[in-house]
Amino acid sequence: MSREQQKRQAAEAALEFIDESLTIGVGTGSTVNHFIDALAEHRIHIQGAVASSEATAERLRKRNIPVRELNDTGDLPLYIDGADEFTHHKQLIKGGGGALTREKIVAAASERFICIADDSKRVRMLGTFPLPVEVIPMARSFVGRQLARLVGEPRLRSGATTDNGNVIIDVHGLEIMEPIALERRINDIPGVVCNGLFALRGADQILVATADGVERID
Ligand code: A5P
Repeated sequence: MSREQQKRQAAEAALEFIDESLTIGVGTGSTVNHFIDALAEHRIHIQGAVASSEATAERLRKRNIPVRELNDTGDLPLYIDGADEFTHHKQLIKGGGGALTREKIVAAASERFICIADDSKRVRMLGTFPLPVEVIPMARSFVGRQLARLVGEPRLRSGATTDNGNVIIDVHGLEIMEPIALERRINDIPGVVCNGLFALRGADQILVATADGVERID
């Protein structure tokens, strides 16, 4: 089975958690795109969706799924999103697509976060995937120096501007033994908007597409 087929399988597995009476949070990325497509193809008409990026909002609209603002909906019952890495503790690295800040906000505002991923994202220790950090542009050099001193090897993501008008620094060469402590420590650097560690608020459940079907990590 190809990687794309596995992503589709994980996305389809999330459909069983969807109730048409709900407005849900919808994340960003290729796996979530399969989820949006699957909703439309199975003719599941949810009340609305809060998107974690402009790209997702556009895709939802194309599929005639009403896009709502988090400021209007209040907290959400459910958030569906992918990940760049996950552990069996359901801690994640996210933000490969640059949407980490809005993803973290929608995840925090949701009662339940179901992560959908293919097996290639599974790791024993987070950090092989470079950790994205969203930074206010005028603080770029300062934050880069702080990250180099504190944690790893920062590299500015070339040409990337987030939906919030900020830049992304990817931190390479990490072996993250204490994800919660590191998430807090990076957030404490002035100029950092958010980082891609989802450890303080990890996923509640991960649906992992494997060669033998979909595994659930509860
Ligand atoms: C977007 O910023 C990311 O957090 C995505 O959720 C993550 O990169 C997973 O993307 P794919 O489903 O494309 O692998």
